[in-house]
Amino acid sequence: MITFADNTFRLSTFETAYWFRVTQFGHLEHIYYGAPLPDDQSAEPLALKRTAQIGSSVIYCPKLTAPAEPEARRRRRPDTAQPAANVNDPGDDMYSLDVLCLEWSGIGKGDYRNAPAEIKMPDGTFTADFVYQSYRINTGSMGMDTLPSAYSGESNCETLEITTRDESNNVTLLLYYTVFADTNVITRRAVLKNGNKKPLTIRKIMSMSVDIPDDGFNLITLDGGWIKETNKHDRKLSYGVHVNSSTTGSSSNRHNPGFLLASSRATETQGGVYGFNLVYSGNHYGAAELSNHDIVRVQIGINPYCFEWLLNENERFETPEALMSYSGKGYCGLSQNFHDFINNHIVRGEWKNRERPVLLNNWEAHFFKFDREKLLELARSAKNLGIEMFVLDDGWFGERDNDRAGLGDYSVNRKKLPQGLEEFSGRIHDMGMKFGLWFEPEMVNEDSDLFRAHPSYALQTPGKQPARGRNQLVLDLCNPEVRDYIVENVTGILDTCNIDYVKWDFNRHISDACSPGITDQGKFFHSYIIGLYDILNRIFTPRPHILFESCGAGGSRFDAGMLCYCPQIWASDNTDPIERLKIQGGLSYLYPLSTMGAHVSEAPHQQTLRDTPLATRFNAAAFGCLGYELDLNVVSQVKLKEIKEQIAFYKRHRRTFQYGIFWRGEPDKDNKVVWHCVNKDGKAGISGFFQTQATASEGFDRLRMMGLDPKRVYTVTTRQQRLFIERFGGLIKHVLPVKPSPDGFILRTINKRYSLTDCVEKYTAYGETLMGGIMLNNQFMGSNYNKNTRLLGDFGSNLYIAKLKADS
Ligand code: DGJ
Repeated sequence: MITFADNTFRLSTFETAYWFRVTQFGHLEHIYYGAPLPDDQSAEPLALKRTAQIGSSVIYCPKLTAPAEPEARRRRRPDTAQPAANVNDPGDDMYSLDVLCLEWSGIGKGDYRNAPAEIKMPDGTFTADFVYQSYRINTGSMGMDTLPSAYSGESNCETLEITTRDESNNVTLLLYYTVFADTNVITRRAVLKNGNKKPLTIRKIMSMSVDIPDDGFNLITLDGGWIKETNKHDRKLSYGVHVNSSTTGSSSNRHNPGFLLASSRATETQGGVYGFNLVYSGNHYGAAELSNHDIVRVQIGINPYCFEWLLNENERFETPEALMSYSGKGYCGLSQNFHDFINNHIVRGEWKNRERPVLLNNWEAHFFKFDREKLLELARSAKNLGIEMFVLDDGWFGERDNDRAGLGDYSVNRKKLPQGLEEFSGRIHDMGMKFGLWFEPEMVNEDSDLFRAHPSYALQTPGKQPARGRNQLVLDLCNPEVRDYIVENVTGILDTCNIDYVKWDFNRHISDACSPGITDQGKFFHSYIIGLYDILNRIFTPRPHILFESCGAGGSRFDAGMLCYCPQIWASDNTDPIERLKIQGGLSYLYPLSTMGAHVSEAPHQQTLRDTPLATRFNAAAFGCLGYELDLNVVSQVKLKEIKEQIAFYKRHRRTFQYGIFWRGEPDKDNKVVWHCVNKDGKAGISGFFQTQATASEGFDRLRMMGLDPKRVYTVTTRQQRLFIERFGGLIKHVLPVKPSPDGFILRTINKRYSLTDCVEKYTAYGETLMGGIMLNNQFMGSNYNKNTRLLGDFGSNLYIAKLKADS
């Protein structure tokens, strides 16, 4: 809900309030963002006080000794839209923009903090002073012309549109606030309009800027690189500007656009946490600046890096939409806000809130070396295990036998698929599975028919050798002809081959950012992303049945902009579950599990060479959209049985995993990770208990479940999983009549055929007791194994399923 009274805008969601007011000089002063407040609470006690002048500060409008104010100082009163009563209005010697909490700030008027916009104004200066004019409240969210944005759907949203102006330049800045009350998210964005005959140049323009008093904040970012995306990093916010940005041309695997500011007292379940994110897939910029008066300025928007945008008379520029949320219920509360928001207001179309199929992807099984028979053999095995969709990854087209050739030529490689793709897709459907296909439409190999025919389609800086990444160049998405080529090529295949799923890859960062079609290369990076969105719109909006999974060499484009088109994103090329605890765990702060592609692969892992139990590979991937990515035809029968059971289990609990309420636990020990998914009705939940590295003779473990009904009784059972005797190594000689060597033939043979049932625990307890913590069976402590021993060792894990007791 949005109201305006006592000169104050009050925006409220179910569990948050966001207030700001208009000052006597027409600036928007931020008052409060936090837990709800009584409706009749005045803003005054909450506002920052201005009762003393701060030395060396610049005063916006000091008390005049001159007889009259210049015309330019006339201000309109916000509530009446009347001009200021008279030009002799008193100034205010305490009014320094540098120490106000602001919703937006200009340049050149005494605010020396990080400016939300840097604009060379029509008068040739950088001085900009945007002053309040009027407001409007609109029902629903308001879409944009060039960029995707959140939508209201069934829920009641309102959008506040505030008009501010720099009068002397005749430039208007519109600020939009959309309140998504049901999910405790408020979105913000800005639109700049040039009403001046002379052009202006935007060097920087943020989607939002807000100043909040410090609360001993920690700044939490999700950073990394290829195969180590979105690892969480935490630091105390200290004086100066801390920047979280990307310059790769995408939202990047270096720094995810989203970040948090958490009170130093916050835990997973308690304390105040703010979250910010951007509905954008290009270069982003987020900043938190702690000022010398302990005010934190938070900004997020397009990265000003290599950005310059000329705006002629009557032209407008719209920024991407920024997301903001607050929770007083700790990190989990904040994450749950964003999860609901993304599931209900970002992801759209037929796959919104729909369970995702279990897929098999052939990449790690084959790389580029496959033929029709090999694929069909793999597909048959997948079908036997209960897999629902077969995905053919890279290598099916052109001369694509390695990553040096073929990109751009999306006609089927007849050596590999002699009967074509249509026939192959038909075979997969005949087996009773859906069929998915890989593309990398934004890229080209120089060794390709496309490049030979249209070298100018690839990004190149005139007079310079283009830089290569994975032997490929980037196509110029600013060029409409290139966009048409991509749309025609991809849709030609989608419309003839019965394709249910598309994996859209993007395997390198952008370099040589230059498009001959645009006069001003400062527009390049943003125009590229607008071009990408145009392509995605044209391909996927008319084909809503297609499940679209975005991928950027793993997770280099995991952002809310892409999620407006694709319901899920491949989180990382790293499928090692211990790394996935960090990668999926990091993502979980901002994105729901329904958006994370997570696969079980072979071990030792192709990325880390770490050997992990099959059970743990599944247990981690189950907290996401499950897939398998390995050659099933070289997996032992006993492991295939385990995989079949895993898939059946996942299907039974898939809604809980993908759409349940997700909680990160706070385990007692550093070498444990605990995750929980609980049904929205609280009747059932699943907890994953993971051990990263074992210590000798591990002590007692406590499992604290989360999100259950405290007053009702639940039964808790371990998911039955197999224990492969290879885990015992040489110890096996104590129980076998023969003496096998740990890596010898006998042990390998036994291991292929037999397995033990891993320890199963059963408990009955009140939700309250389960959430307080129950003690688990002993782990293996170096001697005396029996069936009640939890054999975790390095990288072991279990899932615990809680169900409401029927009579409870
Ligand atoms: C990178 C992706 O992340 C992988 O899953 C795979 O699709 C390869 N590209 C194929 O080239």
